[in-house]
Amino acid sequence: MTEYPSLDPVCRVEPSSYISRRDLNEPCSLTSGGTLAFGKVDLLSFVHEHGTRCYIVDLKQVTRNAKRLTESFKGYPGKFRPFYAVKANSNESIVSRIVEEGYGIEVTNIHELLFAVKTLKGTRREKTEVSIICNGVSKNHAQRPYKETLIETAFNLQSKKGYDIIVNLSSVEEVRFANRIAGKIGGDLRVGLRINPGITPKTSEDLATGAGYSRFGIPIEHLENAVEEIKDSKGLMKVAQLHCHIGSQIANVNAICGTYGNSKASIRGEIPILCSKVIELEERFGVHVDQVNIGGGIAVKYVKTKPANMEEYGEFWPNYDVEEYASKVSNTFRTIHDKEGLEYPELCIEPGRWLTANTTALLLAVTDVFDVQDKYRESLKGSGKWIITDGSAMTDAHDAVLLQQWFEIVNVSKIGRPLEVPYNIGGIACDSGDVFAWGRDRTGPRMLPKTDKRDILMVLDVGAYQQALASNYNMLPTAPAFNASEP
Ligand SMILES: Cc1ncc(COP(=O)(O)O)c(C=O)c1O
Repeated sequence: MTEYPSLDPVCRVEPSSYISRRDLNEPCSLTSGGTLAFGKVDLLSFVHEHGTRCYIVDLKQVTRNAKRLTESFKGYPGKFRPFYAVKANSNESIVSRIVEEGYGIEVTNIHELLFAVKTLKGTRREKTEVSIICNGVSKNHAQRPYKETLIETAFNLQSKKGYDIIVNLSSVEEVRFANRIAGKIGGDLRVGLRINPGITPKTSEDLATGAGYSRFGIPIEHLENAVEEIKDSKGLMKVAQLHCHIGSQIANVNAICGTYGNSKASIRGEIPILCSKVIELEERFGVHVDQVNIGGGIAVKYVKTKPANMEEYGEFWPNYDVEEYASKVSNTFRTIHDKEGLEYPELCIEPGRWLTANTTALLLAVTDVFDVQDKYRESLKGSGKWIITDGSAMTDAHDAVLLQQWFEIVNVSKIGRPLEVPYNIGGIACDSGDVFAWGRDRTGPRMLPKTDKRDILMVLDVGAYQQALASNYNMLPTAPAFNASEP
């Protein structure tokens, strides 16, 4: 081991320390025969029958997650309404499980909106019981093949079909456009306003959406203009919701809960800013907003132990679990509203990642193992070996490439053996960057038992955004997904 001294300790986590553990690796377990199972499926037998490269999905874990999150908000003193950000994973079985637990759907464009309407149709949650929140940008532009914009379609669903559907307008221009459409459709339309609070939380820069320079939401300095526009609509539109989403995989819950003081300068964090704006709209404009939507962003423990190097890996190790998140969020609302003597608003949340990430793993076969020339070891953080797999990070776990996202990787064939060799783990695309883990960036290398050709590797926590981002680069067919909830 002394041969590879520069490895970060996060690279050496024994699977036995996280298998079956809530928040780390709940769907996995060790069978009585000492093999690894995912959901109800013994992985080696499964691979023997179905082969690899494939995703394996534990639908029961989806339900467990959805229930756990709503349970943890039981302490919120007002009405609580969860929505699922369907962009994270739009697999119909997954979405249905979440909807069955009482969630509405958050969508980002007309394609997702029509999918949400279709998915919710025919269930007992149709029409007014169906809740859809429309976010995103470009909502004032008709996307091929549709002739109507998202704003028009959503307004029609609300006003003519009675759907409980709300559009969060995210720029003053969108407000003006919505005003014109509301004029044509005729009034009393409930809309929301998405604000940009100018917050940069600890997460990947590509996932942060609430920074002042980002393109999402009305800068708080311009909120007044948006409200004036809506007031000009003379009752055609009513602001029902104030919305904010500061990003995904928010590692520090303080960015969301912040602090609420007496002066403007002492109001910090997403919820205090949202609440102060709700209060301001009422006091200055007589606009009463009854829903506050704090977006998604609940983070997943992708790294399976607290990283020694928090600077580099901290965003993969959130400083809270979902119960702490819910209780801190609820207490923040309670503190602010009790202090101001106000009613609690309806609280909406829109998680995607946390609900689905741990429900799915990617199974890969090792197709080759070979040495790196000694002189290059150092540049690969001490790793002298490559593992090649039958999958592709670029197509199957794209964030490993895009964000250098950490996904834990297990050698399923050698479970229980000591982690003794640091490997770079690559895919089959003809790009150097097609890597699940390697020493040239913060994804690797990874300590595994001595690994051989035909061993089976499992990449954990790929249920959020990875299938959604999958492509057919190099003409690879999309990896199939199998249900692991049945034996
Ligand atoms: C507006 C909005 N809401 C909710 C989400 C879901 O975020 P997450 O998957 O981090 O919970 C996103 C995704 O980034 C989003 O853009």
